Amino acid sequence: MPQENSNSQPWDIWSAECYGQTVAPFVAALTDTIQEWLNPQPTDEILDIGCGEGALTAKLATNVKRIVGVDASANMITAFQHTYPHVLSRVVDCRFLGREKDLTSAGFDKVFSNAAMHWILRDAATRTDIMRACFAALKPGGVIVSESGGLGNVAEVHAALIGELIHRGVTPERAREVSPWWFPSLEMMKALVEEAGFKWIRGEVELRQTKLTEVEGGGIKGWVQLFGANFLEELKSDSEREEAVKNVVEALEGVGRRQHDGGFSINYIRLRFEAQKPV
Ligand SMILES: C[S@@+](CC[C@H](N)C(=O)[O-])C[C@H]1O[C@@H](n2cnc3c(N)ncnc32)[C@H](O)[C@@H]1O
Repeated sequence: MPQENSNSQPWDIWSAECYGQTVAPFVAALTDTIQEWLNPQPTDEILDIGCGEGALTAKLATNVKRIVGVDASANMITAFQHTYPHVLSRVVDCRFLGREKDLTSAGFDKVFSNAAMHWILRDAATRTDIMRACFAALKPGGVIVSESGGLGNVAEVHAALIGELIHRGVTPERAREVSPWWFPSLEMMKALVEEAGFKWIRGEVELRQTKLTEVEGGGIKGWVQLFGANFLEELKSDSEREEAVKNVVEALEGVGRRQHDGGFSINYIRLRFEAQKPV
């Protein structure tokens, strides 16, 4: 098992090149709606939670007073700082965001997050504290605007990965437990947000059938290898992992292949919300 370091995630599955160029460039790109909800203003000071390698953060940076990107992946933040040295970013495991006193002292107008909360909120033990830390980061009247996976997000791949582990002798309980994601219903997210003290402004769930890349190393195989890494790590050898990826891809072939153009789609379920810290 990979080494743990102090502030980043115990095991860094992320590679900026693999994520941002080969497997999932659409994640930062398909963000028109959440950017509209964020409605960046020249006076805004924004904290971007789970900013990744910074493509979206840097885009937002051009329209606001200050934006700070935080992410648990040292790989992602290294790439961020290399590509966008003029934008503030640093390694923070946001499960423990509350420990970052300079970030959680009511200094921000907005807390923003795209495609990251379903990773960050995975552990039930830290979930409430994370939302409280987002609340603490905001000035009175400030808002949190977030888009992440909702209930049923990428369900076909999620189920295929769990099924493959069970087929290989992992117990169903363990196979579910190693999933790195928490995909809540809108009601569940609302309850979590309100429990932290926020006033819920709006929320919605959208089915986004997302066409995967077709470049070498991408597509459904690349997706399963990158985002399914936590599941595959349960298996004993590289050859077993390779066989598992092959089986998962074969199972999905009958589910996501598009008849009209031969491309491959995954059913992303996006959960968006906006909530306000009372004045
Ligand atoms: C799918 S990427 C999204 C990146 C970026 N927001 C975007 O829109 O492209 C998810 C990011 O969440 C980060 N992440 C996962 N768990 C985290 C945690 N506990 N604290 C901070 N970041 C985390 C990952 O390192 C990764 O960069």
